[in-house]
Amino acid sequence: MRHLSVPTDRAQEIIEIIRANDWQSSEFRIHQIEENKIVIPLSDEFPDILPENIIGDIVYINPISNPQNHGSWKEIFEKEIGQEMFSRLDDRLSTGHEIIGDIMIQPAHRFSDEIPDYVDALVRAKMQTHPRIRLTLFDYGVKGKFRVRDLEVAAIRLDKILQGNELEEVPVELLNSETIIKESGLQIHLDPREVYYSGKLENERLETTRKLLHFRDEINRPLAVCDLYCGVGPNLAHLLSHHGLTGSILANDLNPACIPYLFRNLSPLKSLSVSEIDGILQVTEEIQVANMDALVLASDRNQHGCWDVLFVNLPHDSLEHLPHLIHLLRKDTPSIIRGWSILPTDELSTLSDRLFSILPNRCSHSDISFKVRKQYGATKSMVGFWIRIQPE
Ligand SMILES: C[S@@+](CC[C@H](N)C(=O)[O-])C[C@H]1O[C@@H](n2cnc3c(N)ncnc32)[C@H](O)[C@@H]1O
Repeated sequence: MRHLSVPTDRAQEIIEIIRANDWQSSEFRIHQIEENKIVIPLSDEFPDILPENIIGDIVYINPISNPQNHGSWKEIFEKEIGQEMFSRLDDRLSTGHEIIGDIMIQPAHRFSDEIPDYVDALVRAKMQTHPRIRLTLFDYGVKGKFRVRDLEVAAIRLDKILQGNELEEVPVELLNSETIIKESGLQIHLDPREVYYSGKLENERLETTRKLLHFRDEINRPLAVCDLYCGVGPNLAHLLSHHGLTGSILANDLNPACIPYLFRNLSPLKSLSVSEIDGILQVTEEIQVANMDALVLASDRNQHGCWDVLFVNLPHDSLEHLPHLIHLLRKDTPSIIRGWSILPTDELSTLSDRLFSILPNRCSHSDISFKVRKQYGATKSMVGFWIRIQPE
């Protein structure tokens, strides 16, 4: 049977990714095969090609049964509520959950009356198969310009799983939704009720780091990186884990709740206490932190011509903001824009022309590339794009 063999010192982190994606076969046991290797039994849903954020080797060995196997969450749910109800669940409700640290985010809609029994049963079944989940939150979609999810506590695990009216008795401190995500050996702190975060972008961050390592080697000096919509700083945290990859950094987000998390997530800031950020603050010799509207920040002439790399991650508005951000880039050496955008799928064929028209004198079509990262139904797509800007 297919197992993933992983080094013991990375095992916990990889098990979390595997479980978050429902890729572990719960019927069989994780066990050690060599002094420094453990194997994880894989479910049929595990992809044929190893995802980039997972290290290890696929091996075929005899599985060991798991005596404590309670079954998959589907089996537990069906036993309680019946197969018919399971077949009537829509995909978003059944498989759309996301695990962020010790929190599970369960897509939902506001129920007009009480939360139906089958929804509570669904949450319970998922928490039973994911014993490390402390808190489950119903997700009613993103709200406002900070793209923060509208979340409500659905269940907490104390000595047992509490839901519905039982939650009224739970002290509010215990319902705290701050959590820590382990991503590629990094720890990222955040509270999904206050800030934007998507674990699904981890592969994007790995690709970004890989390409920027090449770019650093090409221009032969540490990169000056400006992340104008940095959230809690996952892109920068990845870059900072590579010694000598970055020089100056500007980390900005309009959401004030992101700022304290930057001080916890960006390694050079960890020992510093957060002071009030009003405008742009030079926090260390190399790092500036700001809590500003990116367009206002981009109009500050002190920042013009300073940056080798610009992250533009405001998917609904990236293309509208882009023309106002160009003068932040250095003019004497090549520079890179790494961005993400959500756009109507039928506009994908003209995206390259559109990006080119924003920067006609500083790039050619061959300097522009993009990949579709996610499909929103048939009508919208999220793309990740790269633009290489030539010196002036
Ligand atoms: C899609 S999130 C990306 C966050 C982060 N780069 C990441 O990958 O996790 C967009 C971020 O832009 C911030 N934002 C929204 N409007 C902004 C603006 N006008 N200027 C600066 N930041 C803004 C939001 O608060 C949010 O954190």
